[in-house]
Amino acid sequence: MSNTTDAIARFQTLLSKQGQLLLSKLAQEELTAENELRISTQLRKEFPVQLVLDALAQHQLRLKAQAKFSRAMEMYFTKSGLEQASSEVIAAYRAKRFAELKNIADFCCGIGGDLVHLANVSSVAAVDYDPLHLAIARVNADVCKVSHPVTYNESDVRAFDLSNTDGIFIDPARRTTEGRMRTGDSEPPIEWCIELLDSVTRIGIKAAPGIDHEMFPDAWELEFIAIGKDLKEAVAWSPALSKSKRRATILPFGHTLTEKPGPPVDVKMPGEFLLDPNPSVTRAGLVEELARELNAWKIDEKIGFLSSDKEMHSPFGRTLKVLDSGPWNQKQLPSRLKQYDIRVVDIRRRGLAGDVDQFQKSLKLTGSRKATLVMTRVQEKPWALICVDVETTS
Ligand SMILES: C[S@@+](CC[C@H](N)C(=O)[O-])C[C@H]1O[C@@H](n2cnc3c(N)ncnc32)[C@H](O)[C@@H]1O
Repeated sequence: MSNTTDAIARFQTLLSKQGQLLLSKLAQEELTAENELRISTQLRKEFPVQLVLDALAQHQLRLKAQAKFSRAMEMYFTKSGLEQASSEVIAAYRAKRFAELKNIADFCCGIGGDLVHLANVSSVAAVDYDPLHLAIARVNADVCKVSHPVTYNESDVRAFDLSNTDGIFIDPARRTTEGRMRTGDSEPPIEWCIELLDSVTRIGIKAAPGIDHEMFPDAWELEFIAIGKDLKEAVAWSPALSKSKRRATILPFGHTLTEKPGPPVDVKMPGEFLLDPNPSVTRAGLVEELARELNAWKIDEKIGFLSSDKEMHSPFGRTLKVLDSGPWNQKQLPSRLKQYDIRVVDIRRRGLAGDVDQFQKSLKLTGSRKATLVMTRVQEKPWALICVDVETTS
């Protein structure tokens, strides 16, 4: 039996009555590193050894998957499939852009993280060359009770017939089937995904947040998506689906900032407040747009921090009140922090090198307040700002 046939047979056994009983027993246990061996030994007396091993592995994946999926405990995963799966909040948001279309192809559907949302807006052809992922995607779509029909196609996406497709979402693999990161290109490569434009005009390509903007032709929209403060991914929208050249979006609330050309933003010394833009804004290159929206200025031509003498409120950044601002002087810093009665500092570094952890340990603070130490550059000079939070954003 080949590895793939064996993996599918074992997945089918998990779906059998016996497999379901075992998974539901595990769901009722509080599994810990200490009791796992005892529980698994006990279960091996009632169930086949391989099934116990597979159910335990599936249960562990489900526990991890709760960070991405609200129905994780009913869904199925592989390690690489879960690592690469889109989280629910992003997949649901992104699927909306396909809402007007009739037939979407979900290229490289994996375990169905995107599929379960795309199939709530349109009919979907799910395509993956990994038969196990395809089988799992099918079960997950059923678990999530998708509202539109889905066909499951075991195929290399390069060979899929697109004559009946009016939109494609593609999430190329960035890991191998064994879960290792691919070096270099994704599979299929981004260049190949862009060329799909020869067959279908409406395309969304999921990419790593570090993707090079230059890879995409001018008329494509590049959207950077964060969940709260964490930048998660980029998505490139073909001209027919594009609504702006660049976009930063913060979920779950869907705050979105787009490119709006305007006058250059002033570069001045830090004022009373500092705004640390969300990473989706900096990656999308929209710091100047945010500055104009907030009537703020930059403190350095190349650094993302914004400043103002008025308190800024924005979902696109964290606002800090500046207690102290001056050229970087490592020797004097402990006494400056002491002067403000600081006990703990979060260090926020942009544009300055140095070992933050070691520096943090060397401070030996004894005060009572919490502060943020901003290590940065102001008009090209190394600078330190001692700040406190004025609000919690997103
Ligand atoms: C990043 S995962 C997809 C994750 C999916 N969007 C989700 O949210 O669950 C990539 C998938 O692409 C599949 N894949 C990679 N290259 C492929 C190709 N040339 N044809 C078909 N499937 C491919 C892999 O088998 C894997 O399941």
